[in-house]
Amino acid sequence: MKILSHKFFNSKKETSYYSQLYKKINFKESYPADVKRLEIFKSLIKKHKPKTIVDAGCGAGMPLIQIKKMGFNITGYDKAKNMVNEAKANLIKYKLPEKLIDIGNFENPKHIKDNSIDCILGMGTFYYSKNFIQTLKNQRKKLKKNGRLIFSLRNQLFDIATLNDYSIKFFSNLYEISKTKNTLKKKYLRLFQGYSDRKKFKLKNIDDSQVYSKTYNPLTIENLILSKVGLKCNGIYFYHFHALPPIFENIDKINFRKQSFKIEKPNDWRGFFIASGFVIDCQKK
Ligand SMILES: C[S@@+](CC[C@H](N)C(=O)[O-])C[C@H]1O[C@@H](n2cnc3c(N)ncnc32)[C@H](O)[C@@H]1O
Repeated sequence: MKILSHKFFNSKKETSYYSQLYKKINFKESYPADVKRLEIFKSLIKKHKPKTIVDAGCGAGMPLIQIKKMGFNITGYDKAKNMVNEAKANLIKYKLPEKLIDIGNFENPKHIKDNSIDCILGMGTFYYSKNFIQTLKNQRKKLKKNGRLIFSLRNQLFDIATLNDYSIKFFSNLYEISKTKNTLKKKYLRLFQGYSDRKKFKLKNIDDSQVYSKTYNPLTIENLILSKVGLKCNGIYFYHFHALPPIFENIDKINFRKQSFKIEKPNDWRGFFIASGFVIDCQKK
């Protein structure tokens, strides 16, 4: 059984991690993917200049504090009680009112008035939803006409480039291997003999913690999902680039991270394959 993310993020370890994360880049500690993600969000906010912003699933509040300090009118909410307490403590540290952040559920944010917000942010959040489409519909309802929903997703196409069990699963679905004869299946599986075994990796990810989360395809997201919920896509931006397949991060962590950081480029087409996350800038139709 998978656990829901707000329960996972409610721990002391996670609340402290999200308080420290944006303060200083430390390649030894972790790859600063969230820092790169925040840069994309900040540049879109600077470009669109929304009058009111809501940060859905704001975590420990550090991104919200940076955006507030840029002069924007932003509030936020999170479902994890300890995250909200951590965020309130951070607001006090930065001499901002505690009431900017409260408890709320991004799958159905009942505490926000419909048609009232200019811009909603979802940084590392909506892909944890049990019902992603319903979450987008509920978020859209809160936006004013032409309001913006800017959110990040995990990139399903990255599975191709990981060259491990994620790739085997990806290709098996692509070729519908479950429908083929056993003799062919065996031959097919032999093709992956050199692929790496993630069970042996020291570095773990959110899936290894059994947290419920999904990946999404940047090639189909607009036609298959956004257009169906009344959202227009204005742009897709990639982050968390990988200079080599993930096994190399386990071999030489620091150099792998430095090299990857150098090639971060939100508009690079290679992001479709070697970036594990992307940000979508969309608007209420
Ligand atoms: C990966 S963290 C990102 C935090 C923050 N947005 C950031 O970028 O630093 C995901 C956050 O979403 C929150 N979350 C998960 N499910 C939620 C829900 N249904 N409603 C509101 N928050 C939720 C978690 O508690 C956690 O704080």
